[in-house]
Amino acid sequence: MTAKIYNLLYTYSFLVLALNISILTTGNVQAEEFFTIQNDELQRPTGYREWVYVGTPLTPNELNNGKAAFPEFHNVYIDPKSWSHWKKKGEFRNGTILMKELVAVGSKAAVSGQGYFQGNFLGLEATIKSKKHFPNEPGNWGYYSFSTLDHSSLNKTAKAFPAASCNACHAASAADDFVFTQYYPILSAGKAKGKEATGGVSSDLTMQE
Ligand code: HEC
Repeated sequence: MTAKIYNLLYTYSFLVLALNISILTTGNVQAEEFFTIQNDELQRPTGYREWVYVGTPLTPNELNNGKAAFPEFHNVYIDPKSWSHWKKKGEFRNGTILMKELVAVGSKAAVSGQGYFQGNFLGLEATIKSKKHFPNEPGNWGYYSFSTLDHSSLNKTAKAFPAASCNACHAASAADDFVFTQYYPILSAGKAKGKEATGGVSSDLTMQE
């Protein structure tokens, strides 16, 4: 009887150990990279609306002679591990991914006044900094789009654009390592600011730390 119980306990502790190891390993892999590139194609990332939101640039038609090149809202997110690195070190780590979700201008009036309010989702783009995948691109950044021409759906995978077709503007005008941090207050104000970057920390508290 006792031997049986010991046997059971023995098996059980092995199972727990195995489970822990698999949780740890999966956790590590996910913590490292938030994207999968297979056969030179980026799988459309999921879950990015739960990453860290950094800002929403908008260049509406009304302010661009009725024909803005990108008239929709751009909601931009960074993966959590790269955010952690950014707020500590003030730089984009190897393995950073930023997602830019395109959202139509929906209503232009609310009870609060005239303005621009987000409507439906229109498209999805990404940029990835990877020495492994983009050893020869400026800053090791690669650029992707999952948007379809009529903006009615998203592709499941995307091939990287030739760097020149995306990168020139980013190289010429972006504030930080090819990223337009000047338009993402969460990144620009939080650069290397540690806890202060997360919001909700009063300056008194920061001074005491
Ligand atoms: C005309 C200049 C220009 C070109 C060309 C361009 N971009 Fe951008 N991109 C911008 C600007 C400006 C921003 C930030 C403001 C905004 O989103 O309107 C931006 C932001 C982004 C972001 C958010 C992260 C970041 O780096 O700031 C992604 C992702 C992105 N662009 C992808 C692309 C892709 C993919 C292409 C090529 C198909 C491309 N861009 C070509 C000007 C450009």
